[in-house]
Amino acid sequence: MKILVIGSGGREHALVWKIARSPLVRKVYCAPGNPGIGELAENVAIKVDDLLGLLDFAKKEAIALTVVGPEIPLSLGIVDLFEEHGLKIFGARKNAAIIEASKAFSKDLMKKYSVPTAAYEVFTEIDPAVAFIDRLGTPIVIKADGLAAGKGVVIAQTREEAVATVHDMLSGRTFGSAGARIVVEEFLRGEEASFLAFTDGRNIVPLASAQDHKAVFDGDKGPNTGGMGAYSPAPVVTPAIHEKVMEEVMRRTVDGMAAEGRPYRGVLYAGLMIDGDAIKTLEFNARFGDPECQPLLMRMKSDIVPVLMAVADGDISKVAIEWHKKAAVCVVMAAGGYPGEYRKGDRIEGLDKAAEQEDLVVFHAGTALQDGKYVTSGGRVLGVTALGATVRDAIDSAYRGVASITWNGVHYRKDIGGKALKR
Ligand code: AMP
Ligand code: GLY
Repeated sequence: MKILVIGSGGREHALVWKIARSPLVRKVYCAPGNPGIGELAENVAIKVDDLLGLLDFAKKEAIALTVVGPEIPLSLGIVDLFEEHGLKIFGARKNAAIIEASKAFSKDLMKKYSVPTAAYEVFTEIDPAVAFIDRLGTPIVIKADGLAAGKGVVIAQTREEAVATVHDMLSGRTFGSAGARIVVEEFLRGEEASFLAFTDGRNIVPLASAQDHKAVFDGDKGPNTGGMGAYSPAPVVTPAIHEKVMEEVMRRTVDGMAAEGRPYRGVLYAGLMIDGDAIKTLEFNARFGDPECQPLLMRMKSDIVPVLMAVADGDISKVAIEWHKKAAVCVVMAAGGYPGEYRKGDRIEGLDKAAEQEDLVVFHAGTALQDGKYVTSGGRVLGVTALGATVRDAIDSAYRGVASITWNGVHYRKDIGGKALKR
């Protein structure tokens, strides 16, 4: 069969890499893809928000399954559109993708269905938001309601900062209409984990556990990024925590969405804060995490294609997923300046050397080809992802790969996986 993957990041490279290994697959396309993906799939120059262009392409090429990577096409309704035309597609419908597209929606859903989460209120006016800030004290967390590419969350340490953030967001200065509504919530302490599961709207099949590293610098310092690295499994998700998340977060959310008339089909991603045996849900995403997808798919032993098909068909009751016992670690190599304004067009050296390393894949995110050579073109440039017998081995292997690769201004965290070692 022919499969189309939508997106162009490290997540989509990992999806294409995994899908291309399936004996069921004859050809993979990626729209718009990136040059690393182009080594495994045919890239097609259609943007992720050009839903009609994607639909035309899928029809013309008789695509058997389309797999959606990023949130934008989901929240624009690509799944609804493809289904109306009788095409098979993996992802959440528009009325379910709102769980990511509106933080106010997802917080209200959690409250209604007793999914553990931080205390909060939703505001559209400055004065009541400030009164609530004064009641909760600092640090306090302020979130733009709409999609803001992972940048719509501010953790304010002082009242002044909190009030200024409320003004900036509600005036539309920082996030435009995405900030016209805000969520103000209690600051939580603990260790974060990413918990992903496939669901058909009734049955829930969890993926292996994972942990992201959102802050740009070692020791979780500096501003948040889309993710500077990830590993799987995440020992913070003990068997007892796993059970609790399945029951109190996943089960209640999937049932709650069904009860709301928004049946959720696809991959549901819960960002969790874990403190001892207490769990709180920070957010939901309607897609695979990036970079989490990279170590997760390297650890997936089962063929992913029948799983994605079963989700798209709406019945995963017979799906079981096998995982490699090995650990996987992904180190993101970023362009100089990221997550602020970053450099572009720097020549990337050493990819061939890294490619020789066993059990290691260099997933491309922000790369471009210039005169036949790879150059940087995005903030997160590469995800160097390795398997190892233990987390320690996977960390060492990933950093050996990283050491082979360089460019002007490159930076990366040196402590990816460190929290797993501490446990
Ligand atoms: P979100 O997009 O809601 O997951 O927020 C992005 C990041 O901000 C999270 O991964 C956390 O690191 C941090 N964060 C969000 N909400 C809270 C909270 N209530 N308390 C502490 N940190 C938070
Ligand atoms: N790595 C965080 C995310 O994909 O949202």
